[in-house]
Amino acid sequence: MSGRIHNEGFRSKLMSAEDAAALVENGWNIGFSGFTGAGYPKEFPKALAARIEAAHEKGEEFRIGMWTGASTAPELDGALARTGGVAFRAPYQSDPEMRTAINKGITNYCDIHLSHMGLQVSQGFLGPLHLAVVEATAITEDGDIVPSSSVGLNRTYLEQADKVIIEVNSWQSEDLFGMHDVYYPIGVLPPNRGALPITSTGDRIGDKVLKVDADKVVAVVETNAADRNTPFKPLDDDSRAIAGYLLDFLTNEVKHGRLPENLLPLQSGVGNIANAVLAGLLEGPFENLTSYTEVIQDGMVDLIDAGKVTVASGTAFSLSPEAAERMNEKARFYRDHIILRPMDVSNHPEVIRRMGVIACNGMIEADIYGNVNSTHVMGSRMMNGIGGSGDFTRNGYFSSFVTPSTAKGGAISAIVPMVSHVDHTEHDVDVIITEQGLADLRGLAPRQRAQAIIENCAHPDFKEPLREYVKLAATKANGQQTPHDLATALNWHVRFLETGSMK
Ligand code: COA
Repeated sequence: MSGRIHNEGFRSKLMSAEDAAALVENGWNIGFSGFTGAGYPKEFPKALAARIEAAHEKGEEFRIGMWTGASTAPELDGALARTGGVAFRAPYQSDPEMRTAINKGITNYCDIHLSHMGLQVSQGFLGPLHLAVVEATAITEDGDIVPSSSVGLNRTYLEQADKVIIEVNSWQSEDLFGMHDVYYPIGVLPPNRGALPITSTGDRIGDKVLKVDADKVVAVVETNAADRNTPFKPLDDDSRAIAGYLLDFLTNEVKHGRLPENLLPLQSGVGNIANAVLAGLLEGPFENLTSYTEVIQDGMVDLIDAGKVTVASGTAFSLSPEAAERMNEKARFYRDHIILRPMDVSNHPEVIRRMGVIACNGMIEADIYGNVNSTHVMGSRMMNGIGGSGDFTRNGYFSSFVTPSTAKGGAISAIVPMVSHVDHTEHDVDVIITEQGLADLRGLAPRQRAQAIIENCAHPDFKEPLREYVKLAATKANGQQTPHDLATALNWHVRFLETGSMK
């Protein structure tokens, strides 16, 4: 035994992952911990996958509903997707095998704003929650759960589930104790909800631990296994250029008195480009920064190490193996600078709006009017999901989107006449940045937006075709508010699907 289970009652429920998986029944909805590859159970899902496969081999029906905080890892999303036994998935994923199951129609995927998921579970919109499976760093003498590298929706799942399995992972540093802030009143349903009392990034308003009704706990499993911890791509010229444009823009906002010298709390989305923007801040002029975000990436940890960021609030880590090692070694230092909260607090619209968060997220494509597609390749194929991008974009002080101007070796333009799927509308998107430049859309009407986006953000190979499109649309639509020629607009995507290039 690891010595991490300090409560006798919980110790008596210790069993193998296989025995725990044997408790699961066909048709159950299961709420797993886990967020961006951090804090997900590692042993139980493999045993559950084996149980599902064994049932399928016998010709028995065995499918489950899988709810999480956000994306997990091959040991959870991948292992269960491979069985073909995941009937339903929400609210965010990024696993190749789960993506395949979703895009083949094997798994019904409901792509929910992360700030909405807790409420939807508590309201019963997604049906009953039969089981919660939550990773812990330790179990205290009082029978409370010390969370690990993510909090996600664990509070809600532990509250709402009929039964609970705890996986205690001794790979996670015990010094994480004290980093978490679990706010309970947010679980109260309308109309009885009060204001969420966070007015500054570093405010602590909740408990250090997660509460669980011991009578619901049916098993405790032990593991010693690392989080997924995917390395980020090395910084390239494009990501450096994108970071540079954003920094110049922020500097200019400070100069004009529209931002304080230490900016406003920063939110940085998932993915390589968002991480590169944080790396840009490391070399930038800003000091005493704070971050009210969803995931704490390598770039954020570097900013804390450099003394540039004083406090970062999120719901999970998304670290490379090297940064995860550093986190485990120095968790005692980082817990004075990092707060991990439930995701319905980290992504809460009320707090994001009150504090005036500066939002920066990756995207797949934007159109010439500023509508953004974050989720679907060529309108149909799900990539990951909307995650928290909608929570921050809709409610931020201003909202920016970043992407290289082309994808797939230059065959695809990230700036198109009409996005093939809309996640964020023109009403919520203030700034678009590619390696070509930055388009500041604030206060611009659609035709002005088109000019700013094409001239500043489109790749040179696609500038002229986009200008031609604007002329054609103006003629066809006879100068209306948002001119389009629908057949030509969508033909950009059709052309790629038929020929392998938008050119
Ligand atoms: N058309 C087709 N494919 C495209 C594309 C486009 N316009 N733009 C990007 N892609 C592909 C890339 O080729 C790459 O594919 P690969 O994995 O096969 O190489 C993949 O999408 C990722 O692109 P990359 O440029 O590396 O971007 P990224 O790592 O910065 O991620 C998103 C971009 C949009 C996928 C990612 O930011 C995301 O999932 N966003 C939604 C959720 C979100 O914003 N969460 C933040 C909340 S806090």
